[in-house]
Amino acid sequence: MKLGAFLFGVGHHAAAWRHPDVDPRAPFRFDYWRDLAQKAEAAKFDAVFLADNVALFGASPEAIAYNPPVYTSEPLTQLAALATHTSRIGLIATVSSTYLAPYHVARKFAALDQLSGGRAGWNLVTSGSDTEAANFGLDHQLAHDKRYEIAAEHVAVVQALWDSFDDDPVLADKQSGQFYDPAKLRYIDHKGEHFQVRGPLQTGRPTQGHPVIVQAGSSEDGQKLAAATAELVFTAQQSLEASRAFVQGLKDRAQALGRSRDDLLVLPGVTIYVAPTREEAEAKLALLHAFVDEAGALQSIKAFLDWDLTQVDIDGPPPPPPFTEGWQSRQKLFYDVAVAEKLTVRQLIARMAAARGHLVLVGTPTDVVDELEAWFESGAADGFNILAPTFPYGLDDVIELVLPELRRRGLFREDYEGSTLREHLGLKRPDAGFVRAAQTQIEETAP
Ligand SMILES: Cc1cc2nc3c(=O)[nH]c(=O)nc-3n(C[C@H](O)[C@H](O)[C@H](O)COP(=O)(O)O)c2cc1C
Repeated sequence: MKLGAFLFGVGHHAAAWRHPDVDPRAPFRFDYWRDLAQKAEAAKFDAVFLADNVALFGASPEAIAYNPPVYTSEPLTQLAALATHTSRIGLIATVSSTYLAPYHVARKFAALDQLSGGRAGWNLVTSGSDTEAANFGLDHQLAHDKRYEIAAEHVAVVQALWDSFDDDPVLADKQSGQFYDPAKLRYIDHKGEHFQVRGPLQTGRPTQGHPVIVQAGSSEDGQKLAAATAELVFTAQQSLEASRAFVQGLKDRAQALGRSRDDLLVLPGVTIYVAPTREEAEAKLALLHAFVDEAGALQSIKAFLDWDLTQVDIDGPPPPPPFTEGWQSRQKLFYDVAVAEKLTVRQLIARMAAARGHLVLVGTPTDVVDELEAWFESGAADGFNILAPTFPYGLDDVIELVLPELRRRGLFREDYEGSTLREHLGLKRPDAGFVRAAQTQIEETAP
């Protein structure tokens, strides 16, 4: 199975920074991230992943004060620095297709891919919040389907730019004075609904041909885009059955578009509380839950899911959420879980605090690996995005207690097979397929 290390502030539990052993200021220091990336590389993870939002969430200074920032830097800048302190682990960063132009995105990921020796991955997000829109001249975010329509054209333009040079265009012929072989570069001359881009891309072709395209949308629009363009998909799933339906459904869609099922890997997120005994593992979760501030959590639900539960009985069931142009699938996931498990608002807060909707596993190494193996073997996952509850401790627990059991069962690598992210993931290196004009791809993927 493939494993990603999702690095996120001081941990994925909402109260991680209040854990007695955690240093809440650590994310402001580079060595903190360097040590986590080197730890994940030594454990042979496929990649480290840095998420991102282009805003600080919170409707008031008080609300912001509640939430320590999880994105203390800028992911591509951080990964470029981490690339010089690591040599094999993949480097995946989130960048918005709504708020950064395709030429910049293509260039930044090509640069990261070249300086890391082919380890870059782009988690394409459409940025689903009014809070982020407010930083880009908008009073409200663009409509959900519009953001995905833009994303479909955006990713096609980025890939065409990555193909605007062949792999070895440099002649450097001092005799003739020709530096490039003109036959090995081209303009893309894209004129579309949302973008007009001439090219070529000045960086030349990325080391992997294309950095790996990652996505994490699970709505109908999100799945349509992922089926056509994503190679790695992150998702939040609560049960093996739901995850299998999602994974196999996405691969069916990709196959219907002429792709192979192996060209698209899906990694559900999982947060793991593990210890030699179940009691100790449960105690780790309970310790963090004790620090959850419910009033603050309700503010996060409001900001994150456009779902205001501040005026309802906290010990009663949550009312249905209003329509959102934001994270549609995550809002639906939470409401469906609340209804299916008859959760009160207070219980929903706890579920949300543990892992924002991702799978939560609590138990001994055998308990945890039994579940991971069941998902993997049944086609509900090609691997997992590991959301450690706290850093570094939660990640250390996974490395020291879970990976040895996975390896004992032959479910995880002993060592890296190759040196690029594509080689770790078993993904083909795309040829300079300029023939596949951006336009064709847009027609296939536009909502
Ligand atoms: C593991 C994972 C990581 C994500 N990382 C980001 C992120 O860094 N930034 C962001 O704006 N959205 C992120 N998302 C949210 C998705 O991009 C998407 O907006 C969300 O899943 C809702 O998708 P939908 O609109 O298709 O329902 C992430 C989602 C998942 C499952």
